[in-house]
Amino acid sequence: MPLQFKDIGKGFPVVLVHAFPLDGAMWEPTIPAISGAGFRVIVPDLPGFGKSKVHPEISTMGHFAKEMSLMLDHLGIGSAIFCGLSMGGYALLALYRIKPHLFKGLVLCDTTSEADTEEKKKARFQLTEKIHDEGQAVLVNELLPNLVSESTFDENPQLVKRLSRLINAQPTGALCAALRGMAERPSSNDLMATIDFPVKLIFGSEDKITGAEASKWFQELIRESELTIIEGAGHLSNLEQPKQFNSSLIGYLSSLPLNH
Ligand code: MLT
Repeated sequence: MPLQFKDIGKGFPVVLVHAFPLDGAMWEPTIPAISGAGFRVIVPDLPGFGKSKVHPEISTMGHFAKEMSLMLDHLGIGSAIFCGLSMGGYALLALYRIKPHLFKGLVLCDTTSEADTEEKKKARFQLTEKIHDEGQAVLVNELLPNLVSESTFDENPQLVKRLSRLINAQPTGALCAALRGMAERPSSNDLMATIDFPVKLIFGSEDKITGAEASKWFQELIRESELTIIEGAGHLSNLEQPKQFNSSLIGYLSSLPLNH
């Protein structure tokens, strides 16, 4: 079982999928709230990140999806609710493409169904070169200030420190592989009309990376969706405003008709 994961609590499974350049530890403030609400929480470290050491040269979203599918097979889980933030959302849309029957619910946080523009792809390749030369420091110095809102950056030094530790803990090879994989990802827009269950959208009001247009786009494409804007949060809404995030997530989980 190459993918490492946490498996906490009892109840209907909820799978939390992390963002770039972090690992499953980014869900620390979310896990106790969800398991306390009566759900089993599965938190993988995507290939190359955290404790999942093995990754290919290009970590495509399809590869992440296959590994998550193997993890669920290994656990004997035939259906779950999935929640992904940013890159976690891209990976979950890739999983939905190959295994839609696994999905009883979907929470898309600060993410998009669009493919990268040429400009974004170019920026990712430039970033892999910088990581090659300067290591994770380039992400801590240049990306981290954009991952959170200005108020979080100024007023929550503990979180900023924790994030910089988490970023520094990810191997440079895995970071570059994921950047290449994200650059290659196809648009998932074609899938949206096939989603026949309610989808929850959670976006930070000051997300500088994904932006509010992505949430509006999802609302246009998906038959049934509900948007929560987390005030005061940037891209990492679950870490910046955990109370607001958790109550919105639990509200959605509890609203789904689940046959255990
Ligand atoms: C993330 O938070 O996972 C990244 O911002 C995703 C991306 O670079 O597109």
